Formats: sequence, C-alpha cells, structure tokens
Amino acid sequence: MATTTGQWTERYGPWAVVAGASEGLGAAFADALAARGLNVVIVARRAQPLQALAAGLASRHGVQTRALAIDLSAPEGVATLLSDLSDLSVGLLVWNAALSLIGPFLEQPLEGHLRELEVNCRSPLAVVHSLGQVMAQRGRGGIILMSSLSGMQGTALVAHYAATKAWNRVLAEGLWWELGKRGVDVLASVAGATDTPGYRASTPRSREAAKVPVMSAEAVVEELLRALGRTPSVIPGRRNRWAAAFLARLLPRRVAVRLMGRTMDGLYG
Ligand SMILES: NC(=O)c1ccc[n+]([C@@H]2O[C@H](COP(=O)([O-])OP(=O)(O)OC[C@H]3O[C@@H](n4cnc5c(N)ncnc54)[C@H](OP(=O)(O)O)[C@@H]3O)[C@@H](O)[C@H]2O)c1
Repeated sequence: MATTTGQWTERYGPWAVVAGASEGLGAAFADALAARGLNVVIVARRAQPLQALAAGLASRHGVQTRALAIDLSAPEGVATLLSDLSDLSVGLLVWNAALSLIGPFLEQPLEGHLRELEVNCRSPLAVVHSLGQVMAQRGRGGIILMSSLSGMQGTALVAHYAATKAWNRVLAEGLWWELGKRGVDVLASVAGATDTPGYRASTPRSREAAKVPVMSAEAVVEELLRALGRTPSVIPGRRNRWAAAFLARLLPRRVAVRLMGRTMDGLYG
C-alpha cells in the first residue's frame, strides 16, 4: 500500500496505464494517478478527448502522458496496445474500459454480446497476462479491474454485462493472492452507481432511478486507490456496502436475484 507521492512512484511507477480513460471513472483515475506523480498512458477510442485530457494532466501535474486511440474490442486492439507500451516501464494497470449493453438479453444481437465479452473480459485477460508477467518479474506493481454491484448476483436486463463484471471480480481476487506473493497488488472495484457520462446516458430519469445512491467518479477513485494493496476487492461508498451486504448476506439468493430483477424492470423494463 502507498500513501505518499514517493511511495506511489516507487511502488507503481514510473508509468500507469488506464484503459478506457476518455471520460468518467477512467479520466478520474488518470487525474488521481498523475496527482500521485505517475506518468500516465490513457487509452480509449476517441482521440480528441484523450488529447485534451493528456494536455490537462501534463499542465496540472507536470507528468508525462501518452494518449492512445485504440478500439479495445477490435481483433488487433490488444496487440496494438502492447506494442505501443513496449518502450515504457508500466507499474500500474487500470482496466476501466467496458461495454454495458442494457436491455433484454435475447434482443441484443450475439455480435453485441461478443463485443462486450471482448472489451470486458478477453482484452483485459490478455493485457493482465502480459503486463502481469513483467510486474511479477520486477517484484512490484498493481492491477485494478472494474467489477460492479450488478455482478454480485444475476441481474436481469444487464445479464451478460453483470456476468462479465462477476468474472472481473473473481479474477482479481484470485490474482490478489497469487500475484500478491510476487509483489503485485491486485484489486477488484465493485462499484455501485457512479455519476459518469456513460451512467447518465444509460439511466432514465425515473422515480426509481432517483432512489439509487450515486457517487462521484472522484470519490470512487479515491476509495479504490486507498484500498489498493490492502484488500482483494472493495465496494466504494457506505450505502453501497450496506446494499451489498443486504443482498448477499441477509437475503436468500433467489430473493436477491428477484429483487434486482424487479428493480431493473422498474428502471428499464
Ligand atoms: N458508472 C457506473 O455507474 C459504474 C458502476 C459500476 C461499475 N462501473 C464500471 O466502471 C467502469 C467505467 O465506467 P464509466 O461509467 O466511467 O464508463 P463510461 O462513461 O462508459 O466510460 C468508459 C470508458 O471506456 C472507453 N471505452 C469504451 N469502449 C471502449 C473500447 N472498445 N475501446 C477503448 N475504450 C473504450 C470509453 O471511451 P471511448 O468511448 O472514447 O472509447 C470511456 O473512456 C466500467 O468498467 C464499468 O463497468 C461503472
């Protein structure tokens, strides 16, 4: 675990990579890591917001940046990313990029589900495997994978997205133990609703939606960075922790899944 800027650069520097950084949680990660003295590679599909963010990070925090416009769902996406990182010493990876398809499972074409699998699971698997090797050989580093409260049980209308988020949590938790012994801190972020452009675009302004507690991206990122190196997974926000404990520990699984299904029907059905 690191607290001071010196500890951050020593433990996770000199370069951090944030995949999915053009806005929302990814942009907040990039800013928080640059504030801790790390040089940052930011990756997403849209070049323009990435370049604006890179310029802001350099001027606000005096760090080096590299903006890579790559589609991480494309077949050559991961190879391009790894090749563009080959001259850098990467000490921290945040896999934040995700595709979240909302709606009835059968109404989404299979191609959409496969793209979701690519961005949310297959691409991070390949990048964690590659960068994880280097970090383990070096004996230090960190990896953060983004899960979600929706992945703590089956969740209707985001059934496949939720399954990919469960996958991220379970992978990160296993690696926390396995790579932890080799000096690499791995963390799963089990975030609840977070105020990002992606969340705003996908959430209706209904009465049900107004009841969902929403955190700022900056608050979520600060909790996650504090948890890195201390625990295998973290649920940012006290209200989210209560909701998760209620669903996972107090309710029978069948009731929890039905409650989530009813909530999703109210929001998106
Ligand atoms: N917001 C929430 O309420 C919430 C809750 C729980 C978990 N999470 C998790 O937190 C993470 C970030 O969420 P967010 O709300 O900040 O998402 P977002 O606003 O949709 O941002 C996602 C980022 O990923 C990039 N991205 C998406 N597809 C990509 C692709 N194919 N290739 C490269 N980059 C891609 C996007 O940039 P481009 O469009 O420029 O490519 C963007 O920078 C996700 O993993 C999500 O599952 C979010």
